Amino acid sequence: MKKAIVVFEVEGGSDKYFNGHRKDTMPIVEAIHAKGWHAEVVFYRPEWSEAIFAHVSDNFDGYISRVNPGNIPGGEKGYFELLTKLSDAGLVGMSTPEEMMAYGAKDALVKLNETDLVPADTAAYYDVDSFHETFPTSLSFGERVLKQNRGSTGSGIWRVRIADPEVAANVEPGTALPLDTELKCTEAVDNHTETRQLGEFMDFCDQYIVGDNGMLVDMRFIPRITEGEIRILLVGPHPVFVVHKKPAAGGDAFSATLFSGATYTYNTPEQWPELIEMFAAARPVIAEKLGGDNIPLIWTADFMLADDDATGADTYVLGEINCSCVGFTSELDMGIQELVAEEAISRVEAANA
Ligand SMILES: Nc1ncnc2c1ncn2[C@@H]1O[C@H](COP(=O)(O)OP(=O)(O)O)[C@@H](O)[C@H]1O
Ligand SMILES: [Mg+2]
Repeated sequence: MKKAIVVFEVEGGSDKYFNGHRKDTMPIVEAIHAKGWHAEVVFYRPEWSEAIFAHVSDNFDGYISRVNPGNIPGGEKGYFELLTKLSDAGLVGMSTPEEMMAYGAKDALVKLNETDLVPADTAAYYDVDSFHETFPTSLSFGERVLKQNRGSTGSGIWRVRIADPEVAANVEPGTALPLDTELKCTEAVDNHTETRQLGEFMDFCDQYIVGDNGMLVDMRFIPRITEGEIRILLVGPHPVFVVHKKPAAGGDAFSATLFSGATYTYNTPEQWPELIEMFAAARPVIAEKLGGDNIPLIWTADFMLADDDATGADTYVLGEINCSCVGFTSELDMGIQELVAEEAISRVEAANA
C-alpha cells in the first residue's frame, strides 16, 4: 500500500474558489494528510488522460472524484474511461462511474418503486413513443412530476396538472386524456407556470428523452412538498446532517432549490430520528436494488413527507439521490472532511487487507 489518495477535479467552473479548487477539496486533502497519508489534487483534461493514468496508477491506492459530470471537458465518457482503467489497475474508486450512474440517475427512483421509499406508480420513459403512449393515461390518475435526467437545480423538472379543476374532477382515471387538454405546467427551476396543451407539451418534453443518458421519470406529485424537502447528507453509511429546504410560499411554488427562493435550515440527524431510522433500515435495500457493494463516499438523499394510506402517520418519499459532486462548502466547520478522510482511508485499507 502506498498510503496515498488522489482527488480529481476539473479546472474552472462556478464551483471553484480563489485557490482554483472546490472550496471543500483542500479541507479533504488536509484531513487525509492529518491522518499521515499522502493526498494531492489532479486536474482532469482529456489530452492528459494517459499521463494522468501513469502518474496516478503508479503513486496512489485510490481516487476521490470531485467532478460535476455536466462540467467535464470533452464530456464524461473520456473521464469515466480513465476512472474505470484506474479501478482495473487496482485503485479504490470513490466513486466508480457505475456507482455514480446507478445512484445519481433519476431512474434510481424507478428501481426502488417496489420499496416503501418510492410510490409504486413511478415510471421512466426511455423513448418518445412510450412517453406519448403512456403519459396521457398516467396524468388521468392525478397531478404528476416529470423529471429529466440531465441537469440539476430544477431545470426540466415539471409539475404537471390539468388546468381546469372541473375538468380534472370529471376525469375517468385510467383513460387517456385528449391531446388538447389544457395543462398547467410549473418548472422547478424558478416555479414559473405555463399553460400548455398536453400533446404540444409532450412534444416539447421529447428533448429530455433523446440523446445521451436521456430519460424522463414520471412520478406522482407529493403535495406535502410545501412543508419542505428533507435532505440527508451522508459520508459512506453515516448520516452527517439534515437540511430542511422549504419552498417559497404561495402560488404554484413546489421547488426546494435555492435559486427558486427556498429557505434552508440545517439540522442534526438526531432532530429527525424517524427519518434516519427508516433510512438506515432501507440502505441495504437501496444497495441491493441499485447494485454494487459500495455506497457513494459523499452523497445525499432527498425526501418529501407523505401520509401512510392505512394509518395516516407520516411517511417519507424519496425524491432524488445525488452522489457525483456533493459539496459541503457551507458546513466546513462541522468536521465532515475528517469523516471523509477516515472513510476513504478505511476503504483503501479494507481493499488491501
Ligand atoms: N414527486 C414530487 N412531488 C413534489 N415535488 C417534487 C417531486 N419531485 C421533485 N419535486 C420538487 O422539485 C424539485 C426538483 O426536483 P429534483 O428531483 O430534486 O431534481 P433536481 O435534480 O433538479 O434537483 C425538488 O427539490 C422538489 O422541490
Ligand atoms: Mg434536487
